[in-house]
Amino acid sequence: LIVARKSSPLVIGVGEDETFIASDATPIVGYTDQVIYLKDNEIGVIRRGEPVQVLSLFNNEPSTINIQKLKLSLAQLEKGGYDTFMLKEIFEQPSTLRDCLRGRIVDNCRRVTLSGVDLNQERFKSAERITLVACGTSWHAALIGKRLIQDFCKMPVEVEYASEFRYGNPVLNEKDIVISISQSGETADTLAAIELAKAKGAFVYGICNVVGASIPRTTDSGTYIHVGPEIGVASTKAFTGQVTVLTLLALSVGQLRGAIDDATLHEVLSALDKIPETIEEALKVDTEVKKLSRIFSYAHNFLYLGRGYNYPTALEGALKLKEISYIHAEGYPAAEMKHGPIALIDHDMPSVIIAPSDSLYDKIISNVQQVKSRGGAVVAIVSKGNKAMNDIADFCIEIPEVPECLTPLVASIPLQLLAYYIAVNKGKDVDQPRNLAKSVTVE
Ligand code: M6R
Repeated sequence: LIVARKSSPLVIGVGEDETFIASDATPIVGYTDQVIYLKDNEIGVIRRGEPVQVLSLFNNEPSTINIQKLKLSLAQLEKGGYDTFMLKEIFEQPSTLRDCLRGRIVDNCRRVTLSGVDLNQERFKSAERITLVACGTSWHAALIGKRLIQDFCKMPVEVEYASEFRYGNPVLNEKDIVISISQSGETADTLAAIELAKAKGAFVYGICNVVGASIPRTTDSGTYIHVGPEIGVASTKAFTGQVTVLTLLALSVGQLRGAIDDATLHEVLSALDKIPETIEEALKVDTEVKKLSRIFSYAHNFLYLGRGYNYPTALEGALKLKEISYIHAEGYPAAEMKHGPIALIDHDMPSVIIAPSDSLYDKIISNVQQVKSRGGAVVAIVSKGNKAMNDIADFCIEIPEVPECLTPLVASIPLQLLAYYIAVNKGKDVDQPRNLAKSVTVE
C-alpha cells in the first residue's frame, strides 16, 4: 500500500504486525501509540512483514523516519490537546477553511468551480429570486449570504427563518431557487422548509457540513462546507465554512450571470484564497481577548453592534455569548440603536462594536460616540493599524484587513474567543450548554 501526503495530514500508525493509515491520530490511538507523521511531499510504502519506508516524492530517496510516541489519552486527543471541543474548533479554522476552499478557486484566482452550480447553470442563470432558509447560526450566515448574492449577482434575495418560512405561505415557483443552510443537515424546521419549497416547484440547493445527512439527500443539488465534525454545540467553524461557501456561490453565480466584473472577482478570490492564513493571523488576539474577558465576565447584559456585512456578525457574536455564558446579549444593526436600545446603555451595559475600515466606518464611529457619551463601555473590533479608535473606545481588538465582503470571516474570530473565555471564567460547560442540542431534530 502506497500513501502520499500533500496539504491534508496523513499519519501512519506502527503496530505489532499491523500498520494503520489515517488523516490524524484519533482513530489510531486505540491500537498503537507509535506514529509517523508524513510531511508534505513524502510517500509512505507499507509492505506486509516489512518496516514502513518513507521516501521523498521528488527523488524517491528514503527520508529519515521519526517514529513518535503519542503522549495523549484517547479522550484528550479527540480534543487535539485543547481543553474543550469549542476551543479546538475555533483554532482549527485556518485548516477547516483550507479544506473548504480546496479545488474551488481555479485559474489563478480568476474563476470559481462549485459542482452544484456548474451542473445546474441554466437554473442559476434563469432564476428570478433566491431565498435563503436556515436556523440559528446558519441563519446568520444566510444574512451575510444575502448581501454577497445581492452585491455579486445583482438579483433579489430574501432570508427567512426556516420555522417562519414553513408557516408563512411563501409564494414560490420554478423560477425560484431556495438555498437551505445547515451544519447538521438534520434540523427539522429546515427540512420541512425544503419539502415545502420543493412542493411549490422551486429548485432547492443545500449547503451542509455533515456528509450524507438528510438535507443533502433531500435537496436537488448543493455544496458541502467540508469543515469536519463540529462537536461543540456552539457553532464556530461551521459558521465560517458556511460564509466561505456562500461567498464562493455568490461569486460563481455572479460570474455565470455576467453580473460581476473580472477585476472584482479576481480581487475577492485572491483574498479568499488567503483566508486560512488571514484567520491564523486573526487568532493571534487570543491572549489579549482572554485578558479582556476577565473585565467583562461581571456583565449581565451586552449589546453587539455592526453595520452592513457585519450586522449579521454582531447577531452571531451575541448568540455565541448568550448560548454558552448565559449572559443576555442583543445583536443590533448599529444605526437602529437610536430607535430604542440606546435607552439601555449605562455603565453596566458594555457594547461590542464591529468597526472595520470599510465603507460604513465613518458612520459607525458616530455610533461608538453615542454609546460612550451615555457612559457605556465599548470594545471595538477594528482593522489592523487603526489607532484612531483608541481615543474613543475603551478597548480595541485589531483584525487583519480584508475586502469588505470578507470582514465577517475575520471579525467573528475575536467574538468567538470573547464568548468562549467569558463562559470559561464563569465556569460554564462550553461544549454542552444547558438546554441545547447539537442538532435540533424536533419542531
Ligand atoms: O445544524 P444547523 O445548522 O441546521 O443548526 C441550526 C441551529 O440550531 C444552530 O446553528 C445553532 O443556532 C448553533 N448551534 C448555535 O451556535
